[in-house]
Amino acid sequence: MITLTHVGKQYGRIHTALADVNFHIDPGEFVFLTGPSGAGKSTLLKLLFRQQMPTSGEIRLAGHRLASMSAKEIPFLRRKLGVVFQDFKLIHTMTVFENVAFVLKVMGVSFSEQKQRAFRSLKMVGLQHKLSSYPLQLSGGEQQRVAIARALVNDPLVLLADEPTGNLDPDLAQEIMSLFERINGQGTTVMVATHDRNLIQRMRKRVLGLDHGRMGFDLPAPASMVVV
Ligand SMILES: Nc1ncnc2c1ncn2[C@@H]1O[C@H](COP(=O)(O)OP(=O)(O)OP(=O)(O)O)[C@@H](O)[C@H]1O
Ligand SMILES: [Mg+2]
Repeated sequence: MITLTHVGKQYGRIHTALADVNFHIDPGEFVFLTGPSGAGKSTLLKLLFRQQMPTSGEIRLAGHRLASMSAKEIPFLRRKLGVVFQDFKLIHTMTVFENVAFVLKVMGVSFSEQKQRAFRSLKMVGLQHKLSSYPLQLSGGEQQRVAIARALVNDPLVLLADEPTGNLDPDLAQEIMSLFERINGQGTTVMVATHDRNLIQRMRKRVLGLDHGRMGFDLPAPASMVVV
């Protein structure tokens, strides 16, 4: 579903954010991307979303070759993705409902279906009662959950989430992870960037580790205990 081959990203002439990154993620996998602050996690997700272009190497995602993709193709790629940004990127002049339903509106989905799907998505994150609120009337954790609802509203093939539990208390963080597991169980490939070690340990999934822009490790999901 996602393949990176010798991917590098430079910001300006001297700053190397990613260098020679290689990995493959199969459809339906659940993968954590971890590493210290500045390691390149957000940069990597931005490349996958085609918000930025790699300086070198090749990225394939859901059948698209990202480097040679035309501008016209980008919306078709993005419709297959659900993205939770580290800074949420909610539109403050739009209500929670309008934020979540926006992508559906752009796709020409009828208003009654927009309402139905946005409600379902907000219910998944426990915020169906905040439909008419504006983002700035919500707490940080609530805004984060709206961003998650927005990412899920389109039943994405791939969910990319950048620190999606950064503003949540441990119980809510666990709930969101259980939700992601459920979504993953329905076939969505999930990639979560986080430096929350406890969360990673609890979840027992494959973990990709970045350090100073390089792949430090790729640990498979620990085998489940077999009771003999
Ligand atoms: N637009 C940019 N211009 C210049 N340098 C950038 C830009 N975005 C990121 N960087 C640099 O690239 C490196 C990787 O940044 P990135 O945001 O990918 O790290 P991260 O692993 O997501 O960190 P964090 O855990 O703090 O979110 C950092 O050194 C950062 O300063
Ligand atoms: Mg980041």
